[in-house]
Amino acid sequence: MSGFAGRDFISINDFSNEQIEAVLDLADEMGSTLEKGKDLELCRRKDMATLFYEPSTRTRGSFERAMHKLGGTVLSFAEAGVNSSAVKGETLTDTVRVLENYADIIVLRHPLEGAAKVTADYASVPVINAGDGAHEHPTQTLCDLYTIRKNKGKIKGLTVCLMGDLRYGRTVHSLIYALARFGAEVLCWPPAQSVDMPETVLKKLLTEYNYVPKKVKTDEDKSIIGKLDVLYIAPVQPYTLPLWTEPERNSAAGFSIKEALGKTDVIYVTRLQTERRAQSPQNYIVLDKELLSEFKKKPLVMHPLPRMNELAYELDSYPKSVYFQQAAYGVPVRMALIALLLGATDIKLTERGRPFASQIAYEEYERAIGIQCPNSNCISNNEREKRYILPDFKMLRDEALTLRCVYCEQEVQPGYIASSEWHQGRLENKKYHRSDSHLAKKIKAKNLILFNSSSDAEAQGFKPSFYAQTRQMGKD
Ligand code: NCD
Repeated sequence: MSGFAGRDFISINDFSNEQIEAVLDLADEMGSTLEKGKDLELCRRKDMATLFYEPSTRTRGSFERAMHKLGGTVLSFAEAGVNSSAVKGETLTDTVRVLENYADIIVLRHPLEGAAKVTADYASVPVINAGDGAHEHPTQTLCDLYTIRKNKGKIKGLTVCLMGDLRYGRTVHSLIYALARFGAEVLCWPPAQSVDMPETVLKKLLTEYNYVPKKVKTDEDKSIIGKLDVLYIAPVQPYTLPLWTEPERNSAAGFSIKEALGKTDVIYVTRLQTERRAQSPQNYIVLDKELLSEFKKKPLVMHPLPRMNELAYELDSYPKSVYFQQAAYGVPVRMALIALLLGATDIKLTERGRPFASQIAYEEYERAIGIQCPNSNCISNNEREKRYILPDFKMLRDEALTLRCVYCEQEVQPGYIASSEWHQGRLENKKYHRSDSHLAKKIKAKNLILFNSSSDAEAQGFKPSFYAQTRQMGKD
């Protein structure tokens, strides 16, 4: 058993590398069957619901075609935000608990980060994340990996340059995890600071996969890109945030433009996600013939589409432009995924007993009091949805005590802590402390109570201890 049947697919990290490769291998097989003009009947009498609260052409289209090609049927909510009972104020959890009676698998696209996880928590049928806000888009990553593998024969050892809106582009978040895990070298080339890779993604790459992507230092050597004044040259820093503690990481974290132009095997361009940001940077990167000619290795050009102006039409005739291929591969790749999650087929894997990406087993913080996710676009902060969602965090206790929201994965550092088992059970010992005091490590995870501010702690009846005296900067 490969462990696919009945699973959800919310993050690319839900699958191990071996499982991802197995999906891609199966997609290959299914692709050749389709090429022979044959359909597969693996999912006859199975129904798939596509519940899309955001626009989509490729993702929904290829999911639906995939299910048709598998012999199944599709219940399509193309504009769930205006055509479903959401208009009447129905919550997502109610909608999915109704839909699971009509479908064997649910594919969800939603503007809120964490919506796919909530759907999976409530639905008894498998749920596939087709994009949740700026968080992740794991099935696009499967298509991206498949395209790279088809064209380059491998992923390991390639240098992949991610260009564009790395902050709000969800495809690059799922993709960077996968590239890191498959041993590619990733260069991040955000044309401005405001579109840089989020710190939460960088931190997760480091803590879970011990991986630091390189950042292209666009301020370093302007002469190299001389005439390329379409580029917005922002004084971007390499990834030398306080996160990176080892000195060698600091020096390795930056990459000059010259090195980037020389090494890149694959350029992955993304559009500015205007719908997710209040302000747009003044200028944005444009990959055209001129900029492409500066790259020494005739790289593959990829884009999840849709494109705006960041990818010139003149590149359509460049033989290594594969963005329409990426979209076409959506059908066999999603066929393989659907068939596996529905248990309609299976593949033998060698990783017996450890089928999923090895992840650190974090303790969870699930108390209803004290802490909220700092991300206003997280489903746990949405007025309608939060009525039934409890804040829930993974606890990272290695360095500074940090909570990672289980829905959107944003991190927050609580300012204050307390124990639910105060000393000798006496009320006068019901004290709170700074979260950076030694007590943060001493209090057992199951007893920890966390607060954003001292007033939150006091509102719960806790008094300041000696270790609450000096307020932590920016925490109150
Ligand atoms: C992407 C998405 O929706 O995140 N499109 C896609 O699924 N291929 C990219 C985008 O909208 O920019």
